[in-house]
Amino acid sequence: MSEVFLREILQEYDAIQREESRSLHQRRQEIFNKIPELAKIDRDMVELMARQSREIILNPNDSSTVIDQLQKEIAQLKTRKIELLDENGYPRDYLEMRYRCSQCEDTGYVGYPIKEKCGCLIQRLLEKSYQLSNIQDLDFENFSTFDPMVFSDELLENSKLSQRQYMVQLRDRLIDYVSKFPDNHRKTILFTGKTGLGKTFLLNCMAKSIMDQGYTVIRISAYKLFDQLFYSSISDKNNYEGLQRQLFEVDALIIDDLGTETRRNNYTSEDLFNIINERTLQRSHTFLSTNLSLSDLRQRYSDRITSRLFDVSNTMLVRFRGSDIRLRQK
Ligand SMILES: Nc1ncnc2c1ncn2[C@@H]1O[C@H](COP(=O)(O)OP(=O)(O)O)[C@@H](O)[C@H]1O
Ligand SMILES: [Mg+2]
Repeated sequence: MSEVFLREILQEYDAIQREESRSLHQRRQEIFNKIPELAKIDRDMVELMARQSREIILNPNDSSTVIDQLQKEIAQLKTRKIELLDENGYPRDYLEMRYRCSQCEDTGYVGYPIKEKCGCLIQRLLEKSYQLSNIQDLDFENFSTFDPMVFSDELLENSKLSQRQYMVQLRDRLIDYVSKFPDNHRKTILFTGKTGLGKTFLLNCMAKSIMDQGYTVIRISAYKLFDQLFYSSISDKNNYEGLQRQLFEVDALIIDDLGTETRRNNYTSEDLFNIINERTLQRSHTFLSTNLSLSDLRQRYSDRITSRLFDVSNTMLVRFRGSDIRLRQK
């Protein structure tokens, strides 16, 4: 199963590399037509580098003046190349290969001589096995697109703060939290509150920021998560165990909308307990959101689940308050 995914993803990486080298080729053609001197510099550099390699192979122990001279000429050409790019208003990396992942240069693997999967590859494997869609959401929902103006500036009940001030404070606390990730004192965060208060948005902000630091993240709704676990547990035991292992191992597990999952007696609560229990024991991070109140949660889930979830020595409980953003916007 995951072998198939791996193969598919490596094909995607191949396609990215081909696409990028095609686009580099186009940039080169374009710029060499426009600035013939650059074309000449490019040819001369190839020639000089070839001579340099030949010299090194022929005289491996000889730090000869020939090699020195060649290196000097190559450096001069490089400087001239940058001058020309600057003068003509091109970015300095215009003639370089562009990588989506600078760690593995879009090969999926890092390390020498022992190769390991790059973080970007592990993340893609997770996305694929959980069919996590819309990772692009994160381009729109992240700390830099957080807009305080969507929140009401009326005072919250029994509070000196408006919803807007409250949310800005919360945002700042979470920015601080993710900046310390994974060395946080409390590893679980539970967002509670009605719909339309910005819970999913903030979970996405955290996901993006943690992924940008190179950690792996699974971000999934409770509904989808427990459906996938349920169907794989009855149809394909290996797959079920694989999914479960990923849930235990991912750096940050984000479960949105807890309480919307289909109730299947023991199944769901057993899975939920295992996930929370295992991750708590391993001291790994789990962020959840729910529209249910704490007492609803207590009614719905067993004690052994809620006692872990509500344990404030490990859980940061955040209550979202105020009025529905979507209704306000209308
Ligand atoms: N801080 C924010 N800045 C800009 N838009 C936001 C912000 N918070 C929420 N939204 C938008 O408001 C809507 C409701 O927010 P959402 O996070 O889905 O609420 P909840 O998960 O609490 O139901 C979404 O369309 C979301 O994109
Ligand atoms: Mg939501």
